[in-house]
Amino acid sequence: MSGLAVIGCGRIGRLHAQILARHPRAHLVYVFDVDPQVAGKTARELGVAAAASLEDVLADRAVDAVLIASPTATHLQLVSSAVKAGKAVFCEKPLDLNLEPALACWRELEPYDPVVMVGFNRRFDASFSALHARLHAGAIGTLELAVITSRDPAPPTAEYLQGSGGLFRDMTIHDFDMARWLGGEIVAVHALGANLVGPVFAELRDIDTCVLSLRTATGALIQINNSRRCVYGYDQRIEAFGSQGMLQAHNQHATSLEIWDAQHTAAKDGVVDFFVRRYQQAYAAEIDAFIDALQNDRPVSPGFADGIAAQRLALAAEQSLQTGRTIRLGPAESEAQVTSR
Ligand SMILES: NC(=O)c1ccc[n+]([C@@H]2O[C@H](COP(=O)([O-])OP(=O)(O)OC[C@H]3O[C@@H](n4cnc5c(N)ncnc54)[C@H](O)[C@@H]3O)[C@@H](O)[C@H]2O)c1
Repeated sequence: MSGLAVIGCGRIGRLHAQILARHPRAHLVYVFDVDPQVAGKTARELGVAAAASLEDVLADRAVDAVLIASPTATHLQLVSSAVKAGKAVFCEKPLDLNLEPALACWRELEPYDPVVMVGFNRRFDASFSALHARLHAGAIGTLELAVITSRDPAPPTAEYLQGSGGLFRDMTIHDFDMARWLGGEIVAVHALGANLVGPVFAELRDIDTCVLSLRTATGALIQINNSRRCVYGYDQRIEAFGSQGMLQAHNQHATSLEIWDAQHTAAKDGVVDFFVRRYQQAYAAEIDAFIDALQNDRPVSPGFADGIAAQRLALAAEQSLQTGRTIRLGPAESEAQVTSR
């Protein structure tokens, strides 16, 4: 049994707490939130203790690991405090909105031999991980092209957008991780962006739609396309095209039913609505992987270095959008040193 605590009980923290509360190899010792009412509500729902303070969580030897699900701006400080208190960490994506603070945090924590897993949950989606496994087993020969489609059902609130860091750092960050996971290191990024969904994005100097072209170190090309609005649901698909064939991971529907009638051919129930339902299985699987790593003293993956690499791609995409140029990426010395157990 590993003792865990969840820090931040909002949309995603509550979900993680629910998974941990029923996990056969975990004991959810505490939930904590700066808003005691929020923590109390989750604690009552799950029959666990609400911690009165972060210090109480970190001082408790029954807590082996903390799961950080508070807003992005709080992540690095919490990672740092937890690692220094001797805890393993699972931190929601992104590590931070900026690269330098994340690198500085890691340099500071290196002497502690930190265990930090980053919540890139899509790596644990059953369809995407099957695609990844077949691709890397050579089922379609050498990867030549991949298309990663990620479209949210509806834009978030203006308040959320204001603190989000923009499309690339907030939303595309998952797709940058997918691109690296499928194709290996990325050496070039070209971005096009547009405001097609609503005026709020332009007002916030953000974009709501993008197409990105990436080149991998092996010469494969990867296209990422995002929209903040998708009328038919949460559109999450990956296609990998290789020298010997193609792999496709499709959307999930509420049921496998198909209707064939005068108006429809093979019409299905709607695509599942948003991340909580679409990635339910993936969220449970990533927690499983974290607990496995802790209990078997194995490296966590994706780790801090993966979080940093995705951030680096987000910044390159922004630079490309601003300049209209393709941004070439070499191995950054400082990042090459970021290794995590
Ligand atoms: N992997 C995913 O699919 C996914 C999905 C949603 C959100 N996220 C990430 O998870 C994080 C949280 O997002 P959310 O949508 O759940 O946010 P949210 O606003 O719904 O919840 C955040 C909670 O953290 C609490 N909080 C704020 N500061 C805190 C602190 N210092 N210590 C403890 N609690 C604190 C707030 O009171 C709130 O209850 C963000 O970094 C976001 O990018 C990841």
